[in-house]
Amino acid sequence: MCGIVGVVGLRDATPLLFGALRRLEYRGYDSAGIATLVNGHIERRRAEGKLDNLGIVLERFALPGVTGIGHTRWATHGAPTEGNAHPHGTERVSVVHNGIIENHAELRAELEQAGQNFTTETDTETVAQMVDLHLKQGMTPSQAAHACLKRLHGAYALAMIFAGHPELMIGARHGAPLAVGFGEDEMFLGSDSLALAPLTRRIAYLRDGDWAVLSRHGAEFFDLDGTPAPFEIKTSALPGGAIGKDGYRHYMEKELHEHPLVIGQTLQRMIDPATRRVVLPELPFDLATIPRITMTACGSAFYAGLIGRSWLESEARIPVDADVASELRYREPPLARGGLGLLISQSGETADTLAALRSLREAGQHVLSVLNVAESTMARESDIVLDTIAGPEICVASTKAFTAQLSVLACLAIATGRARGTIDEAREEILVQALLDLPGRAAELFGLAPMIQQAAQIVAEARDVLYLGRGSHFPVALEGALKLKEISYIHAEAYAAGEMKHGPIALIDRNVPIVASAPSGRLFDKTASNLQEAQARGGRLLVFTDPDGAARMERIAECTIVLPETHAFAAPILHSIAVQMLAYEVALLKGTDVDQPRNLAKSVTVE
Ligand code: F6R
Repeated sequence: MCGIVGVVGLRDATPLLFGALRRLEYRGYDSAGIATLVNGHIERRRAEGKLDNLGIVLERFALPGVTGIGHTRWATHGAPTEGNAHPHGTERVSVVHNGIIENHAELRAELEQAGQNFTTETDTETVAQMVDLHLKQGMTPSQAAHACLKRLHGAYALAMIFAGHPELMIGARHGAPLAVGFGEDEMFLGSDSLALAPLTRRIAYLRDGDWAVLSRHGAEFFDLDGTPAPFEIKTSALPGGAIGKDGYRHYMEKELHEHPLVIGQTLQRMIDPATRRVVLPELPFDLATIPRITMTACGSAFYAGLIGRSWLESEARIPVDADVASELRYREPPLARGGLGLLISQSGETADTLAALRSLREAGQHVLSVLNVAESTMARESDIVLDTIAGPEICVASTKAFTAQLSVLACLAIATGRARGTIDEAREEILVQALLDLPGRAAELFGLAPMIQQAAQIVAEARDVLYLGRGSHFPVALEGALKLKEISYIHAEAYAAGEMKHGPIALIDRNVPIVASAPSGRLFDKTASNLQEAQARGGRLLVFTDPDGAARMERIAECTIVLPETHAFAAPILHSIAVQMLAYEVALLKGTDVDQPRNLAKSVTVE
């Protein structure tokens, strides 16, 4: 989840590396650093905190050179200090790393015994010190890097430069992504193609376990045995220009306002406008005969999957097992071959989700992924990808990608229901219409800002907040609570509304606001009773509902936020946007760093 970048060419490396780090900052912002070769020697600049701090250092102490590497860090081993900031190295080699070297303690002891002097607490320095030792023993940089890679356990994407070798850079990957960019008389390494988009569109992804030796003229690829490895250069479709805030205060605000567009674009890919039927790309398996679905993802993507589960179960009558990826991969559930693994991820690089994908495949499951980054590792390893058309999401907290995932999952549920005969044409028409109405309904939500701001005043004063929902609105509550925790640092818990009386009700007093997602419909009366129980105990209720639900809620709720009328099938999508808006308004009141909240990173490529 750190971002790494490298360049070997003829142009001044530092501005190129700094620009690429800006595009990688979503991966971590605990510290940043750049090293270049200056007259054959390694020089580096590093700074604790955000990339801007490194910018200030570079203004004071310029860093020339045409070959260099850069890093933006999300701390795993060692505090987020300047001393632990990458690049790490010795006078002979400089290294940037994304991932975790799991056997670093054992290697470190061995290297210290061999006389290597460590200066940081990081696992990454083990790589630098081992390569350094091999160089001192007379190996070439390629031999030294190769010998080192063979000893590493864990996950890594690495870029290295070497003193006295101004036209050489080595990259390697195992379990963490790394792209090789091909330019004119210059070559690049980057954690993703987004980082390299303004520099080159011609990208080859290293296969897992492979490494590459780059000069400005090209690259040679090898596997871990040292045998030449195949690679394929693809043209990236990502925009090369900088992604701005377009006048919004934060990327989050901009991305919230993109909901209607993103939902519309995503649905357009899956709904035939002429027939108003869902049309999925050709699948390499038959939805009609899939016995079971295993859905997995992390964080918000998992909550999208939970809403998807309720659609798949109720509309397509197919059993869906759901578990977070970090648990599923170690739970080893017995799975009959021929089932479907359903993976959901914005980045397509989340380490836990990727590992779960691989274990589902090993268990004989077909693999269908719902992804926002078409050029990601998960995209390459899936049998079929259903794209969310959310565009690059810059704010660390996910918003528009979440509703795009829901749009895809809703279409998947309809297509599955049709294939299995649980949905007839008339039902499909109703559901499709409900989805097609969504962009317009979502746009209307922004008119509710004054009400949401009023609710935010109450939430912002609280230390703890409870979120409640039932059925497909329980995951909405989970999403609302997660978003609030992430960007306002207020403790929030989500409960299935019916579970409250089994324990959490003990928490309720005037200081613990209760946010509920309670549209009218089948479960409304039950949820309303649960909320009444809370109100009777002094709880302050902030309720998201619809015009039908509002009348009953207004009597008990301190704040009733009336969302536009929508079909029950599509309601979780609208309610998700509303709870995200609430979290944003609370974060504004708290004055937090909305787009880059503390301790987080957007793409979590470590376990
Ligand atoms: C929450 C959030 C995270 C991600 C999670 C999965 O706002 O952004 O919980 O949803 O880390 O990331 P992806 O979707 O990239 O696999």
